[in-house]
Amino acid sequence: MEYRQLGRAGVRVSVIGMGTNQFGRKLEQKQVFNVLDAAIDLGINFIDTADVYTGGDSETTLGNALKGRWDKFVVATKGYFSTGEGTNDKGASRYHLMLAVENSLRRLQSDHIDLYQMHRWDDTTPIEETMRTLENLVSSGKVRYIGASAYAAWQLAKANLLAEMHSWTSFVTVQSHYHMLEREVENEVIPYCIEDNIGFIPYFPLAGGFLTGKYKRGKYAPAGSRGESSEYVQKYMTDKNYTSVEKLSTWAEEREHTMAELAHAWLLAQPQVCSVISGLTKLEHLQANSKAADWVLEAEEVETINAILADDA
Ligand SMILES: NC(=O)c1ccc[n+]([C@@H]2O[C@H](COP(=O)([O-])OP(=O)(O)OC[C@H]3O[C@@H](n4cnc5c(N)ncnc54)[C@H](OP(=O)(O)O)[C@@H]3O)[C@@H](O)[C@H]2O)c1
Repeated sequence: MEYRQLGRAGVRVSVIGMGTNQFGRKLEQKQVFNVLDAAIDLGINFIDTADVYTGGDSETTLGNALKGRWDKFVVATKGYFSTGEGTNDKGASRYHLMLAVENSLRRLQSDHIDLYQMHRWDDTTPIEETMRTLENLVSSGKVRYIGASAYAAWQLAKANLLAEMHSWTSFVTVQSHYHMLEREVENEVIPYCIEDNIGFIPYFPLAGGFLTGKYKRGKYAPAGSRGESSEYVQKYMTDKNYTSVEKLSTWAEEREHTMAELAHAWLLAQPQVCSVISGLTKLEHLQANSKAADWVLEAEEVETINAILADDA
C-alpha cells in the first residue's frame, strides 16, 4: 500500500481509503468488524464517515469495530447536515458544531476525531464563527485536523486566509465530487489545492458503481445493486458513457486490471489527490478495489484515458 500526506497535515493516509455510507445499512455490524480486520491486512488506514450516514449508524458501527485499534486508523467524519427537527440541528454555527462533535465522539466511542470536515459551506453562518469554533475544537484536543467538503475554490481560499490571519487552524483537505465522468473540480478547486497545498479527496470515485462496468447497455441493473433504484447511478447510463466504459474496460483488461481499478488509479494520478475513499457494500469490493494502489499510471496512459473519455480515441 502506498501512503500519502493528508494534504497540509503531517499524518499519512493510504491511497485507498474506505467510504462508509453503507455501514449500518447494507453492511451490518458483524461485517463492519470483518471489513476493518481486512483493512488492516490490506494496509488501508483511512476511513471516511459522517454524522448523517445511515442516521448515525455508520459512526456507531465503526465505533464498535474501532475499539482497541484506533491507532491503526485515521478516522474522518463530518458535520453540517440536519441531525434533527430543530432549527439549530444543522449548519456550521458554533452552537450546532459543538453539539455535533460531541454526538460523533459518543457514537465513535472516542475522545477525538482525526479529521473533522465541514460537510458543506453554510451561507447563513459567518465563516469567522465556523473557523473560530474549529480552532477551539482543535485546541481542546477533540479534533486533530480539519477539512472541507464540496466547497468552491473561493470559499476554501476565504476560510483558510481568515484562519491564517488569526493563526487559527486551517483546512488541510477538501473532499468533492470527482471521477472520470465528473471533472468540474479540475477548473478551480484543484488548481487552488495545488497553489495552497490542500489535499484533495474525491468522493463517488466509482460514480456510485457505474465505473465498475457492471451496468451493461440495454440490460437490467444487477439484482441488489445501487443502480437498480439510484437516480444518481442511472443518470450515467447514457450511450456515450457506456461506450467510454466499454473501451476503458477493454484497455484495463489488456493490462490485467479491472475497470474499477482503473477508475481508482486514474484519480490517484491526478494532482493533490491523497486518498480515494472507495465505497463498498461487500468486503470483496474493498479487496478488489484496493489492488488499484499498486497500479501507477504513466502520464501518457492518463492522456490515452482522457482521449477515450473525450471520445477522441
Ligand atoms: N462529502 C460528501 O458530500 C460525500 C458524498 C458522497 C459520498 N461521500 C463519501 O464517498 C464514499 C464513496 O461514495 P459511494 O460509496 O457513495 O460511491 P462510489 O464509491 O462511487 O460507489 C460505491 C458503490 O459501488 C459498488 N461497488 C464498489 N466496488 C465495487 C466492485 N469492485 N464491484 C462491483 N460493485 C462495486 C457498491 O454499490 P452496490 O453494491 O450497491 O452496487 C458501492 O457501494 C462514501 O462512502 C462517503 O464516504 C462523500
